[in-house]
Amino acid sequence: MENNGRGTWGSRIGFILAAAGSAIGLGNIWRYPYVTGQNGGAAFVLLYLACVLVIALPILLAELSLGRHTTLNPVGAFKKLTKSKVWPLVGYLGVVTGAGILSFYLVVAGWTLGFIVRTIIPSTESFTAFVSNPWEELGYFTAFLLLTVYVVLGGVERGIERWSKLLMPALAAILFLLIIYNLTLDGAMKGVEFYLNPDFSKIHGSTFLAALGQAFFSLSLGMGTMITYGSYISKKENIPFSATAVALSDTLIAFLAGLMIFPALFAVGVEPTQGPSLVFEVLPRVFSTMPGGTLLGVLFFILLAIAALTSTVSLLEVPVAFLVDEKQWTRKKSVLVVSALVFVLGVPSALSQGYVPALGELNIFGQQDFLSLMSFLFSDLSLPLGGMFICIFVAWVWGSRNALEEIKMGTTERTISLLGIWEFLIRYVCPVVIAIILLNVFGVF
Ligand code: TRP
Repeated sequence: MENNGRGTWGSRIGFILAAAGSAIGLGNIWRYPYVTGQNGGAAFVLLYLACVLVIALPILLAELSLGRHTTLNPVGAFKKLTKSKVWPLVGYLGVVTGAGILSFYLVVAGWTLGFIVRTIIPSTESFTAFVSNPWEELGYFTAFLLLTVYVVLGGVERGIERWSKLLMPALAAILFLLIIYNLTLDGAMKGVEFYLNPDFSKIHGSTFLAALGQAFFSLSLGMGTMITYGSYISKKENIPFSATAVALSDTLIAFLAGLMIFPALFAVGVEPTQGPSLVFEVLPRVFSTMPGGTLLGVLFFILLAIAALTSTVSLLEVPVAFLVDEKQWTRKKSVLVVSALVFVLGVPSALSQGYVPALGELNIFGQQDFLSLMSFLFSDLSLPLGGMFICIFVAWVWGSRNALEEIKMGTTERTISLLGIWEFLIRYVCPVVIAIILLNVFGVF
């Protein structure tokens, strides 16, 4: 094997699907709509799209090339390219962030399992009651953790790649059906208006951070997932092409999810600022009135659970690859130790939605419950911070010229002519813009 026997993807499309599988998940269908709702709708959507194009896509290229060049996990990648003791800290931050995100992500992923059951056996219990029930919360959370462990133990190709196939087209097809149905509901046009007609007075300093954090979260950037996934690709792979395919499909699914949720939301009378419960409040009401809704609902939540699974797998893979490469642990031991830690870290998130009132009334950094706080710390702060350092490292320490050599391998002439833009973005635009947005949150301006 060409990269130290760590395994590579079985095929090119296999890699694209796996990377898209990592990117597409709850971030698109659960997080994107509620963050958009909280940040005023259409104007936020434009900011988000700008962040994806100008910042996230260049960083995706940077992470993938760093991974392929070093064929290592994020910590090892930094160690290999510099003698400095400081840069590997960015890799460690990524490893910790992976476990942090996984801990609360699994709670929400557990909700999708719960909703498969609740759609099959119609339940009159409200969403609030559902998430306040400690047994349901912990049970589904643990079940999802076990599913993730099962897949990751299978290794790169058999485990991750196989699950990613077929998912995207199926998910997109269901979204289309739901969009069409939801647009026929009374009041749907108010939702379309909210989602697509920008009101720029709704943009504040925090809106920029929300858009940036969402772009990083949705594309799985800023903590080395894509460095790790890049370490499994072959030199024949066309990185710019794959990166663009991943970013496009991820953005398309998120955009469709918004188009599905907002018309329905105004029709069933839920507030757009509802927060993390948004899709779980709105969708069951849609399914319950829709002809064939039960079947479609079950199918939808199953697909959402699979989409979440290909993402949790990629989150767990980062700390695991780190322990396997750097500490020479076996894959099995690494998976078991990391998942035990993630379990402990996830319990407070699971119980913060109603069962333990104190965990729901924190009000730290404007975040009410423990789950939202974890999401804010790890997604909105840690990912852009990590992403900024990855940018600076690739552009100035490893050197954008060296990175370009790596990126060019496997590309065609036409792509190469576009790479000048990448170099400019990664050297100047990305680090500066991220720094300004982060400093702004801490009230520097
Ligand atoms: N991008 C995934 C989603 O949208 C979540 C995810 C997977 C992730 N790996 C990540 C987020 C790494 C940040 C970093 O659901």
